[in-house]
Amino acid sequence: MTKRSLTGIQPSGNIHIGNYLGSIKPAIQVQDECQCLYFIADLHALTSRKDPALLKTSTLDLVATWIALGFDYKKHLLYRQSDIPEVAEFAWYLSCSTAMGLLEKGHAYKDAIVNGKDASHGLFAYPVLMAADIIMYDVDFVPVGKDQKQHVEMARDIAGSFNAAYGVNALRLPQPVIREEVMTVPGLDGRKMSKSYGNEIALFLPEKDLRKKILSMKTDSTPLEDPKTLAGSILGDLYTLFSSPAEYADLEQRLAAGGLGWGHAKEELFVAVNREICQARGRFEELRGDEAALEAILLEGAERARLIGLEVLNRVREVVGLRPRKIVV
Ligand code: ADP
Ligand code: TRP
Repeated sequence: MTKRSLTGIQPSGNIHIGNYLGSIKPAIQVQDECQCLYFIADLHALTSRKDPALLKTSTLDLVATWIALGFDYKKHLLYRQSDIPEVAEFAWYLSCSTAMGLLEKGHAYKDAIVNGKDASHGLFAYPVLMAADIIMYDVDFVPVGKDQKQHVEMARDIAGSFNAAYGVNALRLPQPVIREEVMTVPGLDGRKMSKSYGNEIALFLPEKDLRKKILSMKTDSTPLEDPKTLAGSILGDLYTLFSSPAEYADLEQRLAAGGLGWGHAKEELFVAVNREICQARGRFEELRGDEAALEAILLEGAERARLIGLEVLNRVREVVGLRPRKIVV
């Protein structure tokens, strides 16, 4: 049977190169082998920033981004989490067999507590909703960046607890898929690239701005004529993700020989990044110009996803002793 791959991204700001390499690109690469369910996690976004206008524009940006990067939304499924009302219901069934102790270990919740921030119930329950997103579609694989690994492992635990509580094998346990080479894409300051650090390179920046952004990257002040080491630098870590091994070795060698400045190396990084995304950027701009078409794609995707989700929902309702719900989409 065809395996299922599912992932979600929150519509909470500009998509950056870390999201692209860590999540979107690997997810798109499996579309010939798996049935893919990719969605916009707008309900999760409500746990952090309260910005209704940003939620709307980022949702449409994300749909256009997935399609521009080559996701075949007709063959697979592309939808918005909040268009599937059953997911919140499903999360409730899971909640009732999820231990508080498990959720207390959730890193998003723990970080909020450690940093003295007010944690909402939504943030605490975040991993349960994420487990519902996954488990409600009998998913096999979840391609995510390293920071989401714990959440996918919690989804496995949550599915396992439900199965154990009822003595059944009704829920499939998902596996996180994390590509080693893009586990953590560095940002312009060397920390993990993240919207919350403001160190990101947005994926579809206009060419001129992309160049400016890359040129603003921190490098040490080794004089032009001195030898420089590419490996281990932020620039090197990013260049390796956008160049061929031969191109990387070539730049490494020229820097090591001295006489080549970091500025030149940054130009080469810009060329490599731009080469990879320039076609998609054009498609993104075109798609983003027709919001009604993007909305229609989302609604159609949700209709098809609901049919799959309702089947698993009914399986769970039956296990817990509730009547099966009639499937009317
Ligand atoms: P951000 O940290 O900018 O808020 P998100 O948490 O919205 O990003 O991440 C969306 C997806 O992109 C997740 O699957 C996450 O693991 C992946 N991702 C985010 N930042 C990076 C990064 N720097 N390197 C690799 N993957 C990343
Ligand atoms: N929590 C994920 C993030 O912040 C988004 C997400 C929600 C998700 N539900 C999911 C990812 C299910 C994978 C599977 O990036």
